[in-house]
Amino acid sequence: MKKILASEITPETIYQNRRSFMKSAAAGTASVVLGSLFSIPGSANTPSSDKLTRYRDIISYNNYYEFGTSKEDPSENSGKFKTSPWSVSIEGEVEKAKTFSYEQIIKDFPSEERIYRLRCVEGWSMVIPWMGFSLSHLLKTVTPTSKAKFVEFISVYRPEEMIGQQSKILDWPYREGLRLDEAMHPLTIMATGLYGKNLPNQNGAPIRLVVPWKYGFKSSKAIVKIKLVEHIPITSWMNASPTEYGFYSNVNPNVSHPRWSQATERRIGDSFLDPRRPTEMFNGYAKEVSGLYQGMDLKKYY
Ligand code: MTE
Repeated sequence: MKKILASEITPETIYQNRRSFMKSAAAGTASVVLGSLFSIPGSANTPSSDKLTRYRDIISYNNYYEFGTSKEDPSENSGKFKTSPWSVSIEGEVEKAKTFSYEQIIKDFPSEERIYRLRCVEGWSMVIPWMGFSLSHLLKTVTPTSKAKFVEFISVYRPEEMIGQQSKILDWPYREGLRLDEAMHPLTIMATGLYGKNLPNQNGAPIRLVVPWKYGFKSSKAIVKIKLVEHIPITSWMNASPTEYGFYSNVNPNVSHPRWSQATERRIGDSFLDPRRPTEMFNGYAKEVSGLYQGMDLKKYY
């Protein structure tokens, strides 16, 4: 078994201590000062009082095909990946295309904590305390034109540093997409960290997308380009297997993947003796997002 380094445990311990402090301070005045940075679980961000997944599980059980297809490949193969310098360009159907350096993003768009459940299409889930900010803030700075209907997210292409990109497992670079209104929804974030620290490479450093009501594969890692477009973009997964992966990919316990049910999930960290948990519609965010899909047949638009 892989040895757990002290440095991998520390952030969680510090974080949990700070969190207990925050809970006790919530009734008092200290929360006014600190509350914006570290909010209380079970409040605005998370649909339930789920326990946070352990830091070491979040950083060692990953999907990141650029670094290999096994769960441990990303943590083992991404150590030398260079995340600095980094920039993100926003272009396409916009009044004013822009390129932001990572430093500029950090300065202009302060990250706050968002505890989201991540439900993978493979049938497992985690509860992750992300640091991030609503993507809408970034998109508003370029002023989408009236033609902009969809948003395409393009991840980095660097086969010399990303061993998985040396084989054709997907059509690189990794591409994902959202409808513009989904991208503008306040729950959709650009994540820059987790457990109060910068994102580890295996989790998508230095900046990634997180869309909590959709299957995990919509949450693209290591984004370098965001393109506003008129027509529905073809994503890497749609291209790889259109009958299995649609454009919407909303978490939906009533629509099975062609090869397995999506009705239940295994929470990472649970014992194999623990029962699988029921999967919730829109991953528990139905109240916030079901309005986006009013009148749509979600079996057809999977
Ligand atoms: N982004 C890129 N660029 N490449 C990938 O292979 N995998 C996706 C998504 N983002 C992936 C990606 C899948 S399938 C999941 S479930 C989540 O990342 C996993 O995120 P995590 O490893 O931080 O838990």
